[in-house]
Amino acid sequence: MEINTQQKQEFESKHFDSLRRLVTKHTGIKLADSKVEMVYRRFAPRIKKLGLDDFGEYCKILKSDDYEEITRFSNIITTNHTSFFRENHHFEYLSNTRLPELKKKKSKSRRIRIWSAGCSSGEEAYSIAMVLLESIPDIDCWDVKILATDINTDCLKKCEQAIYSGKSLENISRLRLKRWFQCEEKNGRIRAQVRPELQSLITFKALNLMEEWPFSGQFDVILCRNVMIYFDKTTQKKLIDKFSRHQKTGDTLIIGHSENISMISDDYSICGQTTYCRN
Ligand SMILES: C[S@@+](CC[C@H](N)C(=O)[O-])C[C@H]1O[C@@H](n2cnc3c(N)ncnc32)[C@H](O)[C@@H]1O
Repeated sequence: MEINTQQKQEFESKHFDSLRRLVTKHTGIKLADSKVEMVYRRFAPRIKKLGLDDFGEYCKILKSDDYEEITRFSNIITTNHTSFFRENHHFEYLSNTRLPELKKKKSKSRRIRIWSAGCSSGEEAYSIAMVLLESIPDIDCWDVKILATDINTDCLKKCEQAIYSGKSLENISRLRLKRWFQCEEKNGRIRAQVRPELQSLITFKALNLMEEWPFSGQFDVILCRNVMIYFDKTTQKKLIDKFSRHQKTGDTLIIGHSENISMISDDYSICGQTTYCRN
């Protein structure tokens, strides 16, 4: 959607601040001043679809705590870029270091819990599932579960559909594609459906990390990658404190390539590339 200078100035002076405050309130995401145009472009089609006169009316609906509209609003503003085996060193760490460790440590209980927090359209959770199945050949004798959560309900529909194509498949080896997906090729484009063995390991759920979490369980590994970059330091710290309450000494927290928690938490020590151990 095109935006001319006059529209931009009017939006910036009248509505941008209210809208970005609502974004922070409902998602934790902090928008810089430079995001004026991005915010206008993302929300203008929704305002048109609702038949509203301007952004002011849209803010009023959001302030009335209209749950459905707030869900759509969160879906529109979140950035969901992801792919299979993104930052592959984390999956190598899981398969070469962490899972062998857990197999020894948990040889009695045989219980492993992993959380993909901010899973977007599911590629991260399915990549973890592949590594688990490859690393634990007798997984049927284990109690292994992956919880995968995101605030974006459109993304969660994609997770459940489990059909992927294009760029998100770029980092998957041919061997893995053949083993873990049912592939069709149409006009040179691959359409890959995740096999049920992978799906059965994962529970996808809508969860806003800013709200109360409806579970009390502990996680051997939490991946929260490329999510905290959108939050300010105070919100990041609160989130890390919450993760810490769901982990025990020695558990693993994996974050994204441009994130760093060393300065905001004493609960974790670095033990790999953007990989932390709970103290
Ligand atoms: C850039 S994606 C990262 C996906 C994946 N973790 C990866 O690294 O490839 C960021 C995800 O965080 C989610 N997100 C943002 N704010 C959130 C919140 N408050 N609660 C839960 N998820 C949130 C977005 O919806 C989005 O899917």
